Amino acid sequence: MKIPANDFERQWADTSADVMAAVAEVGASGWYILGQQVRGFEEALAAYWKLPHAAGVANGMDAIEIGLRALGCGTGDLVLTSPISAFATVLAILKLGAMPVFADCAPNGLIDLDECREILTKRPGIGYFVPVHLYGHCLDMEALSNLRRDFGLRIVEDCAQSIGTGCGHAGQVAATSFYPTKNLGALGDGGALLCRDADLAASVRQLRDYGQSHKYVHAVAGYNSRLDELQAAILRKAFLPRLARWTSRRQAIAARYREAIQNPWIEIPAAPADSVWHLFPVLVDAKAEALAYFRDAGVGVAEHYPQALIEQPALGDGFHRSGCERAKQFCRRQMSLPIHPYLDDNEVERVIDIANRWRA
Ligand SMILES: Cc1ncc(COP(=O)(O)O)c(C=O)c1O
Repeated sequence: MKIPANDFERQWADTSADVMAAVAEVGASGWYILGQQVRGFEEALAAYWKLPHAAGVANGMDAIEIGLRALGCGTGDLVLTSPISAFATVLAILKLGAMPVFADCAPNGLIDLDECREILTKRPGIGYFVPVHLYGHCLDMEALSNLRRDFGLRIVEDCAQSIGTGCGHAGQVAATSFYPTKNLGALGDGGALLCRDADLAASVRQLRDYGQSHKYVHAVAGYNSRLDELQAAILRKAFLPRLARWTSRRQAIAARYREAIQNPWIEIPAAPADSVWHLFPVLVDAKAEALAYFRDAGVGVAEHYPQALIEQPALGDGFHRSGCERAKQFCRRQMSLPIHPYLDDNEVERVIDIANRWRA
């Protein structure tokens, strides 16, 4: 039996009754866009996140773009960001006509906040920052708040992989994704922004709905980026109530991997104690061999990510590609082991056994 990276069959078996009840409720309501389900989910999410305002949008990438735009970011602005992430993080910056500036990573792959301080000191004019809480690991929030204060930064925290850690409280905006594989994933696309400031929340709500200030009055040229009523209802009624249990299961699996995987060829990077373990990254020198070995043994390993963002061709020829050498090297060695909440104990032990037998 294969051990997949995600197991949506088991998730469906566990959640389908609640999902179908949510779908039936939306269907019967006759209201499918920006109605009481989105409002109800936004309230529940804001309470969960301990921030006063939440606004649902179409996906996590839009959440970053709309968050930056609501903070004033536009053409030509410099945005400091993480060297390793989903491409969506940097695409959100590029779509605004802004310019990403990458800091290198720390040994665990997350952005190095000391290097951020050096860059911000040496290169005045960087007004925006999109730090990524990668893998389920929350960055040092005190260090992040200090950077915000010392350099007057406008920060959109990319929390897509770290819901439930306490991330999202250092910047002006927290952006998250409900892509199906996320710790809180929908049955399709979805995202949200969270913030403390009521005016900022109002401007985000305006931007997501064509920039409307009132019906058919378009104060700004906005987006069509709304969270569906269906996804909001499913998230609120079927998935958010399970998130705490899912997170504990991820944490228990990570603890077991960290204790029992003992192979000199597999390095397990450092992680904060409160990680929500969206992914379980390991580092290997012979990555192609490792991927083939685990896949042949039926283990759904993946790469997050095969390249540092700075290496992506879409950044264009004019982009300065030197630097971020640690991130490039990290990506060459990084591989993720399965860590979804429906893995059973036997599967966890099998992954450990297979890991320990590699090159033994
Ligand atoms: C760190 C990070 N940022 C942003 C995104 C973008 O989210 P979405 O796929 O919902 O646009 C993702 C997920 O894909 C992600 O992992």
